[in-house]
Amino acid sequence: MTDQRIRFISKPASEMNGQIRVPGDKSISHRSIMLGALAEGRTEVTGFLEGEDSLNTLRCFRAMGVAITEPKAGYVCIDGVGLHGLRAPKEPLYVGNSGTSMRLMAGILAGQRFDSTLTGDASLSKRPMKRIIDPLEQMGAVIESGEGGRSPLTIRGSDKPLRALNYQLPMASAQVKSCVLLAGLYAQGKTCVTEPAPTRDHTERMLQGFGIGIETQGSQCCLTESDLEQRKLTATQIDVPADISSAAFFLVAASIAGSGAVTLKHVGMNPTRTGVIDILKAMGADITIKNACEVGGEPVADLIVRPAQLHGIEIDEALVPLAIDEFPVLFIAAACARGRTVLTGAEELRVKESDRISVMADGLQQLGVDATPTADGMIIEGQGDKRAVFGAGCIGAQGDHRIAMAFAVAGLRSQEHIIIDDCQFVETSFPGFADLFNQIGGRLETQPMPTEP
Ligand code: S3P
Repeated sequence: MTDQRIRFISKPASEMNGQIRVPGDKSISHRSIMLGALAEGRTEVTGFLEGEDSLNTLRCFRAMGVAITEPKAGYVCIDGVGLHGLRAPKEPLYVGNSGTSMRLMAGILAGQRFDSTLTGDASLSKRPMKRIIDPLEQMGAVIESGEGGRSPLTIRGSDKPLRALNYQLPMASAQVKSCVLLAGLYAQGKTCVTEPAPTRDHTERMLQGFGIGIETQGSQCCLTESDLEQRKLTATQIDVPADISSAAFFLVAASIAGSGAVTLKHVGMNPTRTGVIDILKAMGADITIKNACEVGGEPVADLIVRPAQLHGIEIDEALVPLAIDEFPVLFIAAACARGRTVLTGAEELRVKESDRISVMADGLQQLGVDATPTADGMIIEGQGDKRAVFGAGCIGAQGDHRIAMAFAVAGLRSQEHIIIDDCQFVETSFPGFADLFNQIGGRLETQPMPTEP
């Protein structure tokens, strides 16, 4: 990523129209590189997200001796080295802003014979890693971390296999679940995880696609017992659907617009990810699902969104893990709704790329919205009767791509415009966001940020 700091200026617009395909799913893109690298044979990926986060995962596996082509229009080819074929990296593995890279790779690295160190940027260095260190240590891994269990993480190599674990996840986290399952590939015996609430299951689906047995019963998921020596992943083809978390910005933009219709093509509709659609529909959104089909083990569909007068709701806590990345833009939808929206049970938002409860509440208040942060959520008094919901203001994105894009969407319903600083992080998940937003009717300007004197 360039060091250039970017400013967005988002101006009001009323009509949103057109047909677009947003970039590939970030979660699936990360996993395609990881499992492709550990497989035997050549894995071909289409629809790969060429964003900084998944590119960092790609670079890390190259640094461990895996031949991976330069992604071109979403096509990547990985020559897998097998479960035991990674080589010691010469330098620390840098994953930038990406929690998924760090947490999932830690599971894989815990099973290696060589030492490795994982580092990230300032935002990632503040995020909790104890949640993966604890189960990995229970499996026999030796991990050194910074203060309070933060990164950098140094993972010691060992000739001994890990111990299988039956792990009860303390929080609903697909990253922790995936970390333990990936470490389980290197453990003798049967590794199981039980989750307190369903979270995204891309790891389980993709492991099966690579020929690894997975048994799921209720909230428990296990790697099928097999001899460690015999265990192997077999290369496959992966078609990455468009990321529903990126589509979410346009679901809200088209819902709060004055007129038009937006079609989002080939969106991933995995039921562990569609909470944003359920929440928006409960608020009165007009979303039609068309051409539903399954591609490479993941459901996809086209979504057609038309403007609607949204109304406030109490968000069902069961939907929280199924929409965990979409709350910044859902808060914008809530501000444009009629009446009060209440979110509870979402304390995980405090440990994302930023503290999304506090950063969103501050930003909304600055723009004149009545938003009250709580320990585990937010209360927003919607102002849906007004066309211009948001006053003028200058928001700091705080190193968080989704905060930047959420306030860019808010610009559609602003009085004058909204300025958002430090939007360079949008590149981590959504390269080309401003162009696509403008293609369907947004008025988003991108500028280098003025340098401080
Ligand atoms: C992800 C899981 C989620 C999500 C993140 C991607 C994944 O994090 O917020 O953006 O790819 O597994 P948690 O599992 O920590 O909630």
